Amino acid sequence: MRHLIIGIEELVHLDDGTNGAIVGENMKNRENLISKGNGILIEDNIITKIAPEEDLIEEFLPNFKKFDFDNNYIVKVIRNDNIKITHTGGNSVIPGLVDSHTHLIWSGDRSNELSMRMKGMSYKEISNSGGGIKYTVDQTRNSTAEFLFSQGKSRMKEALRNGTTAMEAKSGYGLSVESELLLTSVMNDLSIEKGLPSIDITWMGAHDFPEKKDKKDYIDEIINEQLPEIIEQGFARSCDVFCEPGWFSIEDTESIIDAAKVFGLSTRLHIDEFTDGSGAELAAEKSVETADHALFTSLEGRELLRKSNVNQGFLPTAPFTMGLDRWPPIEYCIENEMPWTIASDFNPNCRVLSLPSVASICVQRIGIDPLSVLCATTRNAANTVIHNTEIKHGMIKEGYLANMNVVNGDKWEGWCLQLGTSPFCATIIEGETVKHI
Ligand code: NIG
Ligand code: FE
Repeated sequence: MRHLIIGIEELVHLDDGTNGAIVGENMKNRENLISKGNGILIEDNIITKIAPEEDLIEEFLPNFKKFDFDNNYIVKVIRNDNIKITHTGGNSVIPGLVDSHTHLIWSGDRSNELSMRMKGMSYKEISNSGGGIKYTVDQTRNSTAEFLFSQGKSRMKEALRNGTTAMEAKSGYGLSVESELLLTSVMNDLSIEKGLPSIDITWMGAHDFPEKKDKKDYIDEIINEQLPEIIEQGFARSCDVFCEPGWFSIEDTESIIDAAKVFGLSTRLHIDEFTDGSGAELAAEKSVETADHALFTSLEGRELLRKSNVNQGFLPTAPFTMGLDRWPPIEYCIENEMPWTIASDFNPNCRVLSLPSVASICVQRIGIDPLSVLCATTRNAANTVIHNTEIKHGMIKEGYLANMNVVNGDKWEGWCLQLGTSPFCATIIEGETVKHI
């Protein structure tokens, strides 16, 4: 089925003729990354033509009269036998957002940890007193697959309403063979649901140590029991480890990701979230796909990541929700042409499913240019998140998956300036228009 998108004010396509991550000043180049006056032809779920709107109308809608639609900010969808039209009402359009770091599936409520934090307890101290990841593991293990699936589905709907069209999602609240396999299987069931964001599944058995188990024995279990079963199951593309002093050491992490690589898994890491534990040095040496958090990483560590072309996956809502007054050095990464992304880190301690809200912190608190933040949240993020159709995504470009968002307004900058509610009036996901208002 042909689907024509017209009535677009500004089209933030992000296609400057290059592929993969975009870095440095190129992330701010409005002339190369934004156009006006273009419409988009979609065939099935693929963008097949981007051309001046009049040309597309002449070719595909010869009976179309301009006054059939108004630029009144209202998205209209019209279908007839051989073509569907989405008129975006004179709003601006940006690519579908890609959430490259989520802990999507868990159950239980840790809101009580706020008062512990306010008394000055650290994340580690809360964990040692029975809270944190261990508490969520208990609650998750006591939940049925059906319950976890339905919670996951409502979280994905919320993410979609906020413009997310693809996400990475990790296990890690099971910490046993049986429970980790259940979480990856629930994520796989969710990933085949139609009309929801696609999921790229990561196995994170090395998220914490289960209670009443010796650390060394658990690492043996991860490598010799969980990993082969995860491979046999075939749902996870990647492996992640919480490489942080007090959790998995550099040596532990190295042994786990080396084993995962032997089995053909891609690798990504949580590093330097609370302190500089030399995680960046390991991430660079092992050329992982993305080194996430990277909040306390030294400048030397960042330079090693750059040289190994390892993405720095910033998660500013983690320090935000924990009340830390520290932000990732994004401007430094731009000046030094380092690839970076931002993502939600959605988890029981960071209940954010809205990438526009994460972006708002970057723009309105850290002072980063909104176009650079958009590049980080779309084409750079898509570089570390494979879509389950295996079609390229993250830009509005011919041959790419038809994933895009209609901003509620004629200025594209509005995508990251609205807190609390979605800034989008519609999302086009795999060629289908979903209206939010
Ligand atoms: O990325 N730090 C490790 N994992 C999560 C937090 C998980 C939790 O607190 O439940 C993170 O911030
Ligand atoms: Fe995380």
